[in-house]
Amino acid sequence: MDNPFDILYKTGIVPVINIEDPENAVPLAKALCAGGISLIEVTLRNDSSLESIERIRRAVPGITLIAGTIQSTGAVKEALAAGAAVMVAPAYQKETVEYCAESGIPIIPCCVTPTEIQQALDMDLKTLKFFPAKRCGGVAAIRDLAGPFRDVRFVPTGGIGMNDLPEYLSCDAVAAVGGSFVAKADLIASRRWDAIADVCRRCIELSLGFELAHIGLNAANKAEALDAAEALNERFPLGVREGSGKSSFLGTAVELMHTPYFGTHGHIGFRTNSAERAKAHFESRGIEIREDSIQYNAKGFIKSFYLKDEIGGFALHVMKK
Ligand code: 3PG
Repeated sequence: MDNPFDILYKTGIVPVINIEDPENAVPLAKALCAGGISLIEVTLRNDSSLESIERIRRAVPGITLIAGTIQSTGAVKEALAAGAAVMVAPAYQKETVEYCAESGIPIIPCCVTPTEIQQALDMDLKTLKFFPAKRCGGVAAIRDLAGPFRDVRFVPTGGIGMNDLPEYLSCDAVAAVGGSFVAKADLIASRRWDAIADVCRRCIELSLGFELAHIGLNAANKAEALDAAEALNERFPLGVREGSGKSSFLGTAVELMHTPYFGTHGHIGFRTNSAERAKAHFESRGIEIREDSIQYNAKGFIKSFYLKDEIGGFALHVMKK
């Protein structure tokens, strides 16, 4: 079975939604998928929440359905019967967590204190909700907690806006960011499905946060690379930084490779908030990665890679900011 959390990690964004009118459930789920976010957390906060889950399950089979606001084993059973694949709880409630663990039902309980996190780890749960994220210290608190709790990945929610995505999603300890900002209540009430799909696209752009890092030029050897660096520096005095390894730099703008490296002429380097999610983003579009180029950081997360193809004679290098 696929790890149901995979889609969460790869997308990095969880629309958390209280669907008031079940008539809106299916068009809303379709709008999220159209915008590139194929998952939805439907909170169990009104009498028709289960009906909304059920409708989405029947009409939008490609979406990963998460039931939120799970506060009892009864709610787990109902959500499961309606079609939810993952449970999210606003607290660490022992009985519910144990029931899910014993039954093999994926659950993301909320844990914000070290004691709660340890309780979850003792149950072998490593993906945890962090709510209310903003009031509990935001990404700074998550970074602190990730020190002792190396294996935990958090899903912060509560008080987060679209513009907070780059900060949260550049933290490796964040599995995904959740919130109502992806599909705001007023857009749902006025049935502005295209506008919601646009917000999803913008959220994905912000989460990846691609920007130009540098241009890399290939040279036959180090002497040739330094000649090119000096020539560039005469025109654009950014400073030559002679490297002892595979390259030297002109400021941070141009990397002069000491050997004919990837790409006919060289490479274009792009920075991203998360190389892990960037890889998933390319793969979901059928764009292949050079597996032999993947570099990992000390915690085992991807820090950089090259795409397989080149454009305009340049290989494409992607690296975490
Ligand atoms: C949740 O249950 O995670 C929150 O209600 C979402 O919080 P938000 O509305 O502040 O995004």
